[in-house]
Amino acid sequence: MMLIDNEWKKVVETGTARFSIMNLSSEKWGENFKKREDFRKGVSWHIPTQELVDAIKKYSPIVSVGCGFGYTEKLAEKEGADVILTDISPDIQNKWCISDKMEFPNGVLSMDAKAAIKSFKDRNVFMAWPPYNNPMAYEVVKAMKVGRYLVYVGESEGGCTGDDNFFNILSNKFSEVDDIYLPSWDGIYDNAKVYRKERR
Ligand SMILES: C[S@@+](CC[C@H](N)C(=O)[O-])C[C@H]1O[C@@H](n2cnc3c(N)ncnc32)[C@H](O)[C@@H]1O
Repeated sequence: MMLIDNEWKKVVETGTARFSIMNLSSEKWGENFKKREDFRKGVSWHIPTQELVDAIKKYSPIVSVGCGFGYTEKLAEKEGADVILTDISPDIQNKWCISDKMEFPNGVLSMDAKAAIKSFKDRNVFMAWPPYNNPMAYEVVKAMKVGRYLVYVGESEGGCTGDDNFFNILSNKFSEVDDIYLPSWDGIYDNAKVYRKERR
């Protein structure tokens, strides 16, 4: 992983130090708007937890789509998960993830999410914070093979991730198999769930 020297570097490099992220942010969530802004643009849109790392490990081999900096995925990789990281824009053009602290890790494949699912169709899928009102998440669940699992991190229907088509497919063609504890920033309602694709 290519990282410039920064406050997150130690956290990434020593898997055990990861909970310092939580400590940094846990005092007064309500007053932490700027911290969330820095964190989502510079590290991750969701709050990484050991439970999420464990889920990635459990459902590995896995492909992550729209991975951004792939922070949680990298932690899982350190613990032995087999993860392929993909994003449509793992570079400075990325308008969702911009930071002078973090760089995209080496080895993120520059791929549209649908193409990634088709290329790695035998893997399960990790998708965190797919863009709001954008067909990416829908294309992913549509392209997934029956029997594959989706580890989804984001808001529920009507929230600010994915679109209506995504949630329609999720409720009609998938079953929920796991609900993973996920802390959220104040005013954000993301959760982490695992779904199995049951039918085309
Ligand atoms: C809101 S960010 C979430 C990043 C990361 N998953 C996280 O939780 O921190 C959305 C990411 O999706 C990527 N993205 C947007 N459209 C995409 C597409 N069609 N295919 C693949 N990635 C896409 C963006 O480049 C961005 O990195």
